[in-house]
Amino acid sequence: MATNVNMELARKLLRNEDFPRTCKYEPDWMVSLDMGCPTLWLLERLCEKMDLKPGMRVLDLGCGKAGGAIFLAKEFDVQVWAVDNAVSQTENWERIKQMGLEAQIFPLRSDARELPFPKDFFDAIICVNSLFFFATEDIYLKHHLIPRVKLGGQIGSVVPGFYTEFQGTLLDDIPAHLRQYWESCMLYTWHSAEWWKRHWLKTEQVEVEVADNFPDKEGYLTYLEWERIIGYPEKIAQDDEGRNITFSRLVIRRRR
Ligand SMILES: C[S@@+](CC[C@H](N)C(=O)[O-])C[C@H]1O[C@@H](n2cnc3c(N)ncnc32)[C@H](O)[C@@H]1O
Repeated sequence: MATNVNMELARKLLRNEDFPRTCKYEPDWMVSLDMGCPTLWLLERLCEKMDLKPGMRVLDLGCGKAGGAIFLAKEFDVQVWAVDNAVSQTENWERIKQMGLEAQIFPLRSDARELPFPKDFFDAIICVNSLFFFATEDIYLKHHLIPRVKLGGQIGSVVPGFYTEFQGTLLDDIPAHLRQYWESCMLYTWHSAEWWKRHWLKTEQVEVEVADNFPDKEGYLTYLEWERIIGYPEKIAQDDEGRNITFSRLVIRRRR
């Protein structure tokens, strides 16, 4: 992904004190770990709705370059298994060692559909900007993901999506300004918070504790600000002007 990072803007926006935990991290470091979203902002708001306690076993699934795993370990003193099918576990290990977190974070290259963990192993599971890659079909959550968290444990997810589902005949019925991003931003995998809530509930294994788009316009605004910081060639948030796209936040609790 060719980008044109604006570090001056990054240093200004990433000092936003509405995100007191994220503020502690260097903007250069956050930008260097970019995988398409403002991970720490999203994670900070997600964790406000989760009951993370020191020593818990947490899976960060689709962890990318492990920035989120590092944040979880440092901020909540949890143990993190940082799993991704495409990012090298050795590269992530180097990043983990640089932070001195070798005793707390365990990087692993694995596909989300072949998780090498026992059932009921994790106290919590976190997926930031990753579930839409592998969890939209009807088998995955019920048979692969939910059994890996203990009964009573939480799964927290943030995904890019729409405020409401588009109806009718795709692509004719989606707004013209979004059509151009169908392939490049994988819009065919995006859904609304309501869609994800129903998708989770269909498993009959969980309660949905949160299904929203973050407070106020924050889901959209963080998308826009990160897009401006990184300088992606796709200007989807800018073009959308807050009408359709956002980040959706879901917190699930396993009950069966
Ligand atoms: C958009 S990136 C987000 C990464 C990270 N969570 C972050 O916030 O920076 C999505 C990640 O999901 C990973 N991913 C996609 N499909 C996967 C799969 N089937 N199994 C494991 N990881 C997967 C990708 O390799 C990528 O690193």
